[in-house]
Amino acid sequence: MQSSSPKYIFQHSNPKPLPAKSIFITDTHIHELYPNLFKGTRTIVFRPGEEHKTQETVQYITKELLQFEAHRKTTIVGIGGGIVTDIAGYAASTYMRGLPFGFMPTTLLGMVDAAIGGKNGVNYGLHKNLVGTINQPGFIIFDTAFLETLPDHEWSNGFAEVIKYACLFDSALFDELNRNDIRYYRNNKEALNTLIQICVQWKTKIVNEDEHENGNRKLLNFGHTAGHAIETLYHMPHGQAVAIGMIIACNIAEKELGADVSIGQKLALLLSKYDLPATFDFNVQEVINVLTMDKKRNDTGIEYILLKNIGEACITLLSFSSIEQALVSTKNGSNH
Ligand code: GLY
Repeated sequence: MQSSSPKYIFQHSNPKPLPAKSIFITDTHIHELYPNLFKGTRTIVFRPGEEHKTQETVQYITKELLQFEAHRKTTIVGIGGGIVTDIAGYAASTYMRGLPFGFMPTTLLGMVDAAIGGKNGVNYGLHKNLVGTINQPGFIIFDTAFLETLPDHEWSNGFAEVIKYACLFDSALFDELNRNDIRYYRNNKEALNTLIQICVQWKTKIVNEDEHENGNRKLLNFGHTAGHAIETLYHMPHGQAVAIGMIIACNIAEKELGADVSIGQKLALLLSKYDLPATFDFNVQEVINVLTMDKKRNDTGIEYILLKNIGEACITLLSFSSIEQALVSTKNGSNH
């Protein structure tokens, strides 16, 4: 069953003090960057970083919600990057079996991907997002003023997901990204707003059609299967790991689908324009070991997202041995 879609608000306003009625969840990084925003509010602050995306943090938030006397009518607002919104959504969905909640993503990655889709949760050991819910936020406020404090590496991180949408669905977007670069979008508010809205539309369309990932929502995992394993093993930023994961998928597609070698080559060039890597010296066996524990595996292998062409993707069940071969060729940078 499709739960109701969130209300989207697009704005560019220097963040103002928040309403006192809601309870806010953020990390120390955002809390320190925007002290005036949180003045006089009930705000729960936790330490930033993937290592804090855990049940312990949710327990801490639950304890704080109780102290703030949160009840079923209290709205929770997660303000931050993907880790904050994933945890805030999960904590709000489980406290008293669910409070109303919404998000204000503060990173490009959060705006184009992590805040949208309703998947909330935490990691467990090496398993990313193993525990969680699918529950849509009531609203998402996309305030691009937050991006003014976004560090360089976070721009690349977000662009990995933008490039992913272009590869999967939108060859015109792929061409546009090729004509521009990070500096262009950072200096051109209108182009950036349009870009964010295009990505929001793609993700929303897919989630609305298949909220529980029984079909086409799986496509959004392009680059994320090996990508998540590499991210977890090497503590690599999400976007960089997804970039490498997308190239691994192109290597697989050449062998499994006979996809043209130029697809991976074009993608590698585009990734480098957005300061994203195409190769990395990972340990193939370690990556395979993590993949064998992947949520998407079944008895015979893993459903992998492959590109037939730029803008055209498919879901293919692959054995671990064909994935292993592609990992070896990507590690050696043999194709691209
Ligand atoms: N929260 C990210 C997603 O639902 O895809």
